[in-house]
Amino acid sequence: MSPSAGGLVVFLLSVQVIQSQDGWRFNYPQTDVCAEKGSEVFIICDITHPPGIRPSDIKDRFWFTKEKDGEPVDLRTDSEYSARVEYGYYSYIKSGYLTITDVRESDSAEYKFTIRTNQPGEKYTGSPGVTLSVTDSGLQVQVRRLNSTWLELTCHSSCVLSDRAEYEWSKNEEIIKTGSSLRVSSGSTDRYSCYLIGSPGQRSPVVYGPQRPSVSASPSAEMLEGDSVTLTCSADANPAANYTWYKEHEDSPRASGQIFTITDFTAEHSGNYYCEAQNEMGRSNSTLLLITSSAHQRSLATPA
Ligand SMILES: *[C@@H]1O[C@H](CO)[C@@H](O)[C@H](O)[C@H]1NC(C)=O
Ligand SMILES: *[C@@H]1O[C@H](CO)[C@@H](O)[C@H](O)[C@H]1NC(C)=O
Ligand SMILES: *[C@@H]1O[C@H](CO)[C@@H](O)[C@H](O)[C@H]1NC(C)=O
Repeated sequence: MSPSAGGLVVFLLSVQVIQSQDGWRFNYPQTDVCAEKGSEVFIICDITHPPGIRPSDIKDRFWFTKEKDGEPVDLRTDSEYSARVEYGYYSYIKSGYLTITDVRESDSAEYKFTIRTNQPGEKYTGSPGVTLSVTDSGLQVQVRRLNSTWLELTCHSSCVLSDRAEYEWSKNEEIIKTGSSLRVSSGSTDRYSCYLIGSPGQRSPVVYGPQRPSVSASPSAEMLEGDSVTLTCSADANPAANYTWYKEHEDSPRASGQIFTITDFTAEHSGNYYCEAQNEMGRSNSTLLLITSSAHQRSLATPA
């Protein structure tokens, strides 16, 4: 098995599934293959033929997933595949293989190998075939809150990896631990990522709590009575943060979402507004001061 560098390909099952028809036998050594989008997969079928079959007796042999008018469609003639598939044989028809490069989620399907002989209407297909599951990303970090201070990060593969899979973790790009989970304190902006040991290039997206948000008021934080103002809040975080707006000295939020609009401004609206950005990793806030302008007062908008 030689998946190309960078892509995660996991062979889930190695069950001997042998189909036998008139002395023809098809054996797929791997019946379930899980691959990360963009990787290259390699699918094999071992064939045993009845005695006396010569190379010249074989008219055609190919791989397919779909059928059209009851006939299998050769992947090489399917425009979705033609540029990305390659067939090969290890020796005279004993073992056929299929490689698909740059796999897409739409390639998730059952792949079967079929043979046509020179005898009219004589065809043999290895069925069931090989099930390929293509997933968006191989590794993901799941975050679970243990209590107010601690979080547990767990590394997961959408390819439902076997228990034998081993992971390691990085904090701010430095490897710090081996194991499927990691306990970290909540509220920091440290950047964590997990790796699959033995699969170079396999790493999860980096997760981190929100950085301090940037807040702005448009058109201005200096208001005249009756004006409208739009407050915008944005914080770098992964997973993406949600946003809540509070006014100073108030317990319940004024609004949620990145954008908060105040219409018909009155003197009672002036004061400090907090935007709080929050994700599973933690929270962070910034303050914006809205003032009612009287005469020639200047803008006092200041991030906290
Ligand atoms: C949070 O959980 C950890 C681990 O279970 C424990 O050691 C710690 O004392 C707990 N802290 C609080 C504040 O409950
Ligand atoms: C924001 O995200 C946090 C953590 O993921 C969640 O607990 C909270 O309910 C969310 N709040 C809103 C308003 O969606
Ligand atoms: C805003 O963040 C600061 C420092 O991180 C924290 O002390 C404060 O309690 C937060 N304010 C609110 C309203 O959450």
